[in-house]
Amino acid sequence: SVSEALGDRASIFTMPAGEEHKTRQTWARLSDEMLEAGFGRDTVVVALGGGVVGDVAGFVAATFMRGVPVVQVPTTLLAMVDASIGGKTGVDTGHGKNLVGAFHNPSAVLIDPLVLSTLPERHLRAGLAEMIKHGVIADAAYFRSVKEFLTDAGRAPLLAELISRWVQIKATIVARDERELNLRKILNFGHTIGHAIEAASDYKL
Ligand code: GLY
Repeated sequence: SVSEALGDRASIFTMPAGEEHKTRQTWARLSDEMLEAGFGRDTVVVALGGGVVGDVAGFVAATFMRGVPVVQVPTTLLAMVDASIGGKTGVDTGHGKNLVGAFHNPSAVLIDPLVLSTLPERHLRAGLAEMIKHGVIADAAYFRSVKEFLTDAGRAPLLAELISRWVQIKATIVARDERELNLRKILNFGHTIGHAIEAASDYKL
């Protein structure tokens, strides 16, 4: 197992899936568990999961001992093509989504599209919708490739290529405007209304 391979130099901390758990309470519990386990400034956080896990674990890393490195290992398509790239971390509050957080770029992002083979259809669709959006905002050729993929969804190699190309495009945008003062705002296209719907549904959607 992972813990056997890593020995006493590593611990596994878990959190439940779902946006409703992206809270200050989860952040505090995970931070406390790390403190109780005796982790120090030489800690590296590895965020294994979807976007909620990546955002919360990233925020834990951003604040633990005033900031330790994080490695993002996204396991959903949506996290691969959005949340794991660009360093946005944080939690939701009663006042809205992502209102407490930090920009904390990952030291590495490890993406293995093979894990998508067990992803539920609904989650796959969420990631594909985001990829259509990427094409709309940034790159007509990318949009055409996503369309090609959607008409022949069995082509796994094309999906891997689309993920890789988007990571490059998003990294270029983030490198030009990490703190979202200007250009990076285009990445929120569609998210703004989505965030409002999530908040109105009390994060059940
Ligand atoms: N999810 C939008 C961004 O990373 O800026």
